[in-house]
Amino acid sequence: MANLIVVGTQWGDEGKGKIVDLLSETADLIVRFQGGHNAGHTVVIGQERFVLHLVPSGILHAGKSCVIGNGVVVDPGALIEERAGLEKRGIRVRGRLSVSDRAHLIMPYHRAIEKESEKLKGARKIGTTGRGIGPAYADKMARIGIRMADLLNPDLLRQKLSLNLSEMNYFLEKLYKVKKIELEPVLKEYLEYGEQLKDCITDTARLIHLAMEDGKHVLFEGAQGTHLDVDHGTYPYVTSSSATAGGACTGAGVGPTRIDGVLGIAKAYTTRVGSGPFPTELKDDTGCRLQEIGKEFGATTGRPRRCGWFDALLVRTAARINGLTSLAVTKLDVLDECREVKIAVGYKLDGRPLDEIPTDIEKLERCEPVYETLPGWMRPTGGVTEYEKLPAPARKYIERLSDLTKTRIDLISTGSKRSETILLRNLFA
Ligand code: GDP
Ligand code: IMO
Ligand code: MG
Repeated sequence: MANLIVVGTQWGDEGKGKIVDLLSETADLIVRFQGGHNAGHTVVIGQERFVLHLVPSGILHAGKSCVIGNGVVVDPGALIEERAGLEKRGIRVRGRLSVSDRAHLIMPYHRAIEKESEKLKGARKIGTTGRGIGPAYADKMARIGIRMADLLNPDLLRQKLSLNLSEMNYFLEKLYKVKKIELEPVLKEYLEYGEQLKDCITDTARLIHLAMEDGKHVLFEGAQGTHLDVDHGTYPYVTSSSATAGGACTGAGVGPTRIDGVLGIAKAYTTRVGSGPFPTELKDDTGCRLQEIGKEFGATTGRPRRCGWFDALLVRTAARINGLTSLAVTKLDVLDECREVKIAVGYKLDGRPLDEIPTDIEKLERCEPVYETLPGWMRPTGGVTEYEKLPAPARKYIERLSDLTKTRIDLISTGSKRSETILLRNLFA
């Protein structure tokens, strides 16, 4: 499997960072293809913990090349800060990271508009990360976006910025009644960013193509998760990008025929940050325990993550949408002390069984999970590296997840470190 896409199958934070880091060992090029610094991908190496937001998790492997693809929205200030933070910790980024000249930029007015728009929504707010992601993608689609390449063309940047500010300031001042944004300071700030980033801005679709022609292994690192995807997720409680496997093709500039496999990452239970329906959410002690043991606090915003049982309907749908070739199940160890474990096999709506996720968000909000209960294993699995060493009920649980999601499980994660992994099949073989 030369070229592999990794995607989240739930609502993000499935442990993509850990798995991408692990697989980067055998990859040559690691590519982010959507999202922005709303992502928080955690990698633990020894005693050190790294949280990557825009830079692909592969950067932690010396000598590997990384790409931020055209489908990503880049806040250049955040990127420069992340790069500096990594370099300070001894991770060389310069010369190893390329950023697409076609990637769209997050501008100060995107953050300002998102903040006000969320306020206006009140109880129906999305609970975004506040990074300006949605408005940046909106401008991309409205064809008024500013791209990485524009940072290197001062006249064009001025023209575009001036036009955009006349529109955005109208919203800010007249609708939201907040201060307008001045052109000159923003122009100066972004030209300075261009100066600092110019060495890594390039045609990354071509770069990836050449790597593939050269027989290199390319790993595509998804951010967020399938049910946060703008088309296939729980709309409108989603992010604004294509977080599913198809997004890797458009977001990196690679044809689907070049992809050899799609690995879905699923947590052994379910979490969600921000608003939106979550049928298996546990608002009781069990939910609190999962949050505590799983350390379920956002890697980007620090917000507590809502926790609940594994939802097989969610992951089965993700398997179909992404064409998953296999699954990696993470955080199995978090369930160690549960006396019993539950899996939602489907939903019930107004007393009627459902085996598909309803599109109507109000219907989904009223769905109740239909559970299957399995015995817990009540034994530590943290750090286990061999499948046979898992307690029998834990193996049974894994097998049931595979049956219900109709997907083979190739990897099980039993801790946040690289070594705390059961590899059932070599994914790059
Ligand atoms: P991502 O956004 O999908 O990369 O996931 P996050 O990094 O936001 O959240 C996953 C969290 O779980 C991180 O703190 C990881 O260090 C941690 N983690 C990953 N795999 C495991 C595991 O198997 N067991 C435990 N206990 N923690 C894990
Ligand atoms: P990783 O890559 C979990 C959620 C936000 C909010 C919604 C929209 O670490 O898995 P946005 O700022 O994107 O417009 O917010 O999406 N969200 C995530 N939840 N993990 C993420 O990324 C997320 N990125 C966005 O909480 O509900
Ligand atoms: Mg995360």
